[in-house]
This record gives sequence, C-alpha cells and structure tokens, in this order.
Amino acid sequence: MVKSKHIIAQDYTITVGDRSDLLGHESGVVWFTGLSGSGKSTIANVVAKQLHKAGILTYVLDGDNVRSGLNSNLAFTDEDRTENIRRVAEVGRLMSEAGVVVLGAFISPFEKDRNRIREIVGNKYYFEVFVKASLKVCEERDVKGLYQKARKGLIPNFTGIDSPYEIPASPNYVANTETMTLQRIGQEISEILLEKYKN
Ligand code: ADX
Repeated sequence: MVKSKHIIAQDYTITVGDRSDLLGHESGVVWFTGLSGSGKSTIANVVAKQLHKAGILTYVLDGDNVRSGLNSNLAFTDEDRTENIRRVAEVGRLMSEAGVVVLGAFISPFEKDRNRIREIVGNKYYFEVFVKASLKVCEERDVKGLYQKARKGLIPNFTGIDSPYEIPASPNYVANTETMTLQRIGQEISEILLEKYKN
C-alpha cells in the first residue's frame, strides 16, 4: 500500500446528515454476496425498484458492469478479486456519504474482503445479504452459460469450480433462492430496508 504520510483529511461543512435531511432518508451500503447465478443482480434490481418507488435514491454497483469500467484492469485471481472488492467498497462508502443507498452485487467470495467492506463502510452503514444457492443449482441454472465453459476449462479461476467461495459467517440476511422466488426475497429485503432508511 502506497499511502503518503503527508495527506491531511479536509473537512467540509455539508455533512452526510445534511444530505440525509435534504433527501428524506438515511444512506448505506447493502451488499449481495453469492455464487455466479445465485440471483444477486436480480434481487438487487427488485430492491432498487421498490426503494425508488418509495422515494429513496439508490444505485446498483454490479460486478460485471464495474469490471468493464473502473475495474477493467482486474482479472479473477485472488489478489484481483480482493482489489476489486476494496475499490468497490471505497466507491460504496463515497456514494453512501453522498446520500445514496448503494446496492452492491458482487460474488465477493472471501470473508476477509467482506469484513474489510464492513470496516471501510462502517458497521452501522453496512447490510450484508448472503444470496444462497448451491453450486449444483447455480450450475443447473447457468444463466450466462459460464459454468459450462468453466467445466470445459475455458474460464480459469471460476468461483465454485476452481476458485473458492467462503460462506458468510454473519450476514444480516440470508436469502434462500432455492425455496423463495427472487421477487419475494427482493420484496422482503425492501421492507427491512425501508424501515431502516426512511427518516
Ligand atoms: S468477484 O469475485 O471479484 O466479486 P465479480 O462479482 O466482480 O467477482 O464478477 C463476477 C462476474 O464475472 C460473474 O457473474 C461472471 O459473469 C463473470 N466472470 C468471469 N470470469 C469469472 C470467474 N473466473 N469467476 C467468477 N465469475 C467470473
């Protein structure tokens, strides 16, 4: 890490509290973690729609999207995934301080990286959702056809195949996508978040 010793944080008059008063709601980072094909992006989309309808400013940060811009120089080695998550956590913190309810949909397979998001964002502002589906189910769904390619050896370091996924130790919410529809899960999470964020 190359952080200079000569950086002095600057204070600004308008605070996150002021922006929250302006917008009429609190902000934070809601993080969806789970295997590829577990339903993270779909649930985040349902939640964003519900919150938007209720007058809450949201923004979805999504692995596939962020990796084609800000993080286009990162691959899927353990180190690059760690850097992917660190950068997105920092972006999430900034956007949350700007007053937005940020919805992050990333595999984020490592517990240490998820703990770091919690540290960067602040425990009070972080809500972790474990989007649960077994590898077998995700592979059967194979929404993007990537598991089939990974099984053929065409995608190295594929999560669940030849790269690990660590089950979250203490998520705020477990979404079992094998027993509930993604729509229903999204609605349930939205109800919790409306309670949490509405002023
Ligand atoms: S993370 O592990 O660094 O959190 P992220 O969520 O950004 O991953 O990106 C995951 C998406 O990238 C998957 O949904 C999939 O579409 C695509 N992808 C491409 N290669 C891989 C790979 N080796 N492992 C997992 N996902 C991959």
